[in-house]
Amino acid sequence: MTLKALFAATASAALLLALPANAAELTIGFSQIGSESGWRAAETSVSKQEASKRKVNLKIADAQQKQENQIKAIRSFIAQNVDAIFLAPVVSTGWDSVLKEAKEAKIPVVLLDRDIDPSGKDLYLTAVTSDSVHEGEVAGDWLAKTVGEKACNVVELQGTVGASVATNRKKGFDTAIAKHANIKLVRSQTGDFTRAKGKEVMESFIKAEAGGKNICAVYAHNDDMMVGAIQAMKEAGLKPGKDILTVSIDAVPDIFKAMVAGEANATVELTPNMAGPALDALAAFKKDGTAPKKWIQTESKVFTPETAKAEYEKRKDLY
Ligand code: AHR
Repeated sequence: MTLKALFAATASAALLLALPANAAELTIGFSQIGSESGWRAAETSVSKQEASKRKVNLKIADAQQKQENQIKAIRSFIAQNVDAIFLAPVVSTGWDSVLKEAKEAKIPVVLLDRDIDPSGKDLYLTAVTSDSVHEGEVAGDWLAKTVGEKACNVVELQGTVGASVATNRKKGFDTAIAKHANIKLVRSQTGDFTRAKGKEVMESFIKAEAGGKNICAVYAHNDDMMVGAIQAMKEAGLKPGKDILTVSIDAVPDIFKAMVAGEANATVELTPNMAGPALDALAAFKKDGTAPKKWIQTESKVFTPETAKAEYEKRKDLY
């Protein structure tokens, strides 16, 4: 039975047939968001490596941050009759029609690293993501623990507007700091997950907050925006990591470099290996019809300067 036939069938004992688990037979279309960050570039290259380890033919379409390009790519994968589709959805809404088309074509869809709205739950097989609300909470808890009772004004660099991870990372951070009356979020704006935008927005925050004197900490939804913000702080004559604390998300090599230089304080890890667990779930599904869990959750761990050098060494060739 093919992967597509399995997806179309309901889970039943009849599916528990002895099927060859040969990933080499699979062609998978991956609609990737783009290359907005170091993390994204790493996810693309790790996905290629994971596919090639399993001899899967992975076709990657770069959407250049545009949902309409992702929808076109999915339609093209359906027309090519691929065995499965991986989708990293740039935003969380607007997927119902195209995912219904994939379902009608009996092509299983796996979400990678971002979610879609709950109304689309029946339209995909599984989602491999972190708990992005928890990531925000971990960042907020780290800040609360670090500042203690001290009054602390925070500025926030949000990710792409409408992306599940941006909404959730904000929600988690807000919840964590709400327990601490001394910590206040004074400014929050999108930096679209890019270094250049992160720098630009941080420059405006610094100007608006007495040259940065009123800012105690920056929370960025990814490390790339933080790297841009660090540059903005330096150009304004501030010492990032000392005058202004930093906490961000991803754990990419450049943020560990900044930590080693004393310019960054904390990052929450997001693994770039979303494709490995997705491919394993598809292989198991193909082998005996085992439906994967609806959510395959990856870990979210905080890293600080004590281990920065070692973490940089571990990751530098991956990215
Ligand atoms: O969806 C994951 C986020 O997208 C990463 O944290 C960010 O770097 C990327 O662009």
